[in-house]
Amino acid sequence: MNKKIKILDAVKEKDILQAVKIIQEGNLVAVPTETVYGLAADARNVDAVKKIFTVKNRPSNHPLIVHISSLDKLSQWATDIPPIVEVLAKNFWPGPLTLLLKKNDKVDDIITGGLSTIAVRIPNNKPLLQVLNLLDTGLAAPSANPHKRISPTTPEHVIAGLSGKIDAVLDDGPCNIGLESTILDLTHHNIRILRHGPITKKMIETVIGFAIESPLIHEESVSGNMKTHYQPYTKTSLMSLSEIETQISLLGNGEKKIGIIHYSDLKIACEDIKTIQLSNNKEQYSKFLYHALHELDKINASQILVETPPHNDSWSDVFDRLLKACAVDDSSSR
Ligand code: TXA
Ligand code: MG
Repeated sequence: MNKKIKILDAVKEKDILQAVKIIQEGNLVAVPTETVYGLAADARNVDAVKKIFTVKNRPSNHPLIVHISSLDKLSQWATDIPPIVEVLAKNFWPGPLTLLLKKNDKVDDIITGGLSTIAVRIPNNKPLLQVLNLLDTGLAAPSANPHKRISPTTPEHVIAGLSGKIDAVLDDGPCNIGLESTILDLTHHNIRILRHGPITKKMIETVIGFAIESPLIHEESVSGNMKTHYQPYTKTSLMSLSEIETQISLLGNGEKKIGIIHYSDLKIACEDIKTIQLSNNKEQYSKFLYHALHELDKINASQILVETPPHNDSWSDVFDRLLKACAVDDSSSR
């Protein structure tokens, strides 16, 4: 498979229609969402969904999120839907909250990796909602990056990662949020966060009125929650600003470039060091984090150093992604 990726313009109706047609023909389109770009296939078309796994090199036991356009479609994918869904949907949909529910029997195992649960969300992106409304099916869409790599927040990132492997990308510019949705498991008595995201534990608790669990130390038994994920090809490490300064002072003459992502002030004038300063505002930081990692991964650096972000409720998704981006895999699967 070596296809040139067609760039479709999300503001043009004819391009939206073309994205719909490609999906209806059983092929893949990278679509914009408010979080990251997704690699979308008709969730009712098993052969199309299989292509997602091939293109991403994703193990078949890593289930996919199904994207729908309205709450009334949820019962096509899930069953035994608890009343709390209505409260959550009213407050957070369309938006970056994925709900894990019991799967409807009609949903093929390919989507759920053979599990009895299904992950569903309504994305908050106008062109994607247009596509979903025209299709009248759900779209299975993982992030549009090779397995375990940095998620794409621009069409350029999609093309860099999946060039030659997919038909088209629907270009809606950079994603507004820049980090993947929160995943909330509603299939057990105790509600729990499976993946931290832009909708934080506190935001959910405020809306539902009681405490939820958020066990997020690395736990293989939670599907898709791998120790290493979101990884640049360049070795990446988390450290404090003073540790970064020490590393710089130890850098020998003529040593290879290093990349630095920081949000505190750091003054360096050295052409072998490329720095990207992100905002200390969480939303702005999230929006540009993956972009910064993609950029520094291109400069052929020996390593990327990332200033450790705050570790609190509102930064929990950033912290989670960076821990995984910097983790070292002790198995041989990388
Ligand atoms: O923001 C997002 O959620 C983006 C956009 C495209 O919507 N999608 C995304 O998908 O991040 P993906 O496949 O990269 O990550 C989805 C995660 C995976 O870790 C997967 O294992 C988990 O959701 N997941 C999906 N279905 C599941 C299930 N039935 N049980 C447990 N985990 C599930
Ligand atoms: Mg992903």
